[in-house]
This record gives sequence, structure tokens and C-alpha cells, in this order.
Amino acid sequence: MHNSRTFGKMKKQGEKIVMVTAYDYPSGKYAQQGEVDAILVGDSLGMVVLGYQNTLSVTVDDIIHHSKAVRRGADSTFVIADMPYMSFHFNNEETKRNAGRIIVEAGVNAVKLEGGKPNRIEAIKAIVDCEIPVVGHLGLTPQSINSFGGYVVQGKNEAQFSEIIRQAELIQQAGAFMLVLEAIPEKLGKEITAMLDIPTIGIGAGRFTDGQVLVYHDILGMADLKPKFVKQYASLGQDISGYIKNYTREVKSRLFPDKEHVYIPLEEDN
Ligand code: KIV
Repeated sequence: MHNSRTFGKMKKQGEKIVMVTAYDYPSGKYAQQGEVDAILVGDSLGMVVLGYQNTLSVTVDDIIHHSKAVRRGADSTFVIADMPYMSFHFNNEETKRNAGRIIVEAGVNAVKLEGGKPNRIEAIKAIVDCEIPVVGHLGLTPQSINSFGGYVVQGKNEAQFSEIIRQAELIQQAGAFMLVLEAIPEKLGKEITAMLDIPTIGIGAGRFTDGQVLVYHDILGMADLKPKFVKQYASLGQDISGYIKNYTREVKSRLFPDKEHVYIPLEEDN
């Protein structure tokens, strides 16, 4: 299994880092069998598997519950869990308690938190001080949708561009070992990647970040929406409904169950 230091070595050696989200035992198991370098139990679980409109309602208990399942499926892969909205915003004591619960109760290797404002930098320092590896997250941070006014690409104008660069530097200085960059221009992803010693992981951040992360259900074609940055490697959503329809038809038409699925068939069948 990788540790938080091996990702830095991968960056130095020019080896791309592959990350995928997972939210439960099977997705953790398949991600590990798919030989990814790291798994993220993202708070996207709120939208992808819990059916919420956004990520804001996800709780620390939700993250712990799902991370435990992922850990059971992926026992030898580096797992990062998201710190939910409002779990690191009030004070360092609460931030450390929440990060500590996620690490201890879920058995994951690191936590990720969104943003680069001064209180987020303090939160990163406080968590790192507890010997917990931290991943930063800049650009289109989904927990900020109400202040961003929706899911809007960030860093398009000069002021935002240089602010994201400044925050990336502060996140590295605060002790984060990795930085996720979401929905930003390729030029910004490239500049930050060249500037930082810690690896950058892009999602909609272009081709030049040190690694890529995609949402499990997006890769497999099981999500409701398909953002521009997603490459679908399958269309399982359609396939699955087709398989369930077959089952429905077979039960309705008495084709299932047949004799081979019966423990002790009626004697006249023998
Ligand atoms: O919650 C999540 O899945 C994420 C990734 C999209 C980076 O934060």
C-alpha cells in the first residue's frame, strides 16, 4: 500500500497517480482490483449514492459509515476520506475531533478538506499537527456552491487565477501532502503542478496535473449527469436497468425460478 510520502516520490519520478472515488464495500473492492493508487471516499456520496441535491447535507457519521465499508472492500489501498461541510469550520478543537474520528473509526489513511481561506489553512495545520495526513482541494469546491452561485469553472479571470495559486502555496506550506484541483483552466492546473512539490490530482483541471481522480459512477456510466471532464468507460446504468427488466419479465412470465433454482423440487418433477 502507498503511504502519504510515496505520492511525492511518484511526482518526482513522473509517474501519474490514479485516484477514484468509492462509497461502499463493492466499489472499494473493484477500485482495489482496478489497481488504483488511492481511493477517495468523497462527500460526492451525498449526490451519487444518497440522492441529495448537493454535498452539503453529508455528515461526519455518513463519511465514517461509508469509509468503513470501503476499507473492508479495499484493505490494501490508500484511502482518503472527505471532511464534510461544517466539520472543520468552527474551531481547531472540533476540526481535530472530527478528523480524528474519521481516521480512528473508519480506518482510513488521510482526510481531505476543501478551500484555501485563512481558517482552512489553520484547519490543515491543526490536523497535520495530530499526525493526520491532509489533502487540500481548490478550484470548484462543491461545498462552496452557494457562494459560487452554482457549479462554475473557477480561475477563469486574473484575480481568481492568482488567488488559487496563492492558496495552493499556502496549503503546501500548511503541511498538506497532496492537492486536488477541480474544474479550472488547464493553464492553471499546469502552473500549480509545476510550482508545488506536493502532487496535484486533477478533476477537470486538464492534462498536466500529477494525477487524475474521477467519480466511480461517472467512469462506469451510472450517474445522472455527464460533466465535460468525464470519460465514461462503460454504460452500466443502461445495462443494469436492462438486466433488471429481464428479471421482471421472467418472473411475470413464470420463467424464473425454474427447477434448477429450487432447493427441493416437487416430487412429480423428478
Ligand atoms: O467528493 C468528491 O468526490 C470529490 C472529488 C470530486 C474530488 O471531492
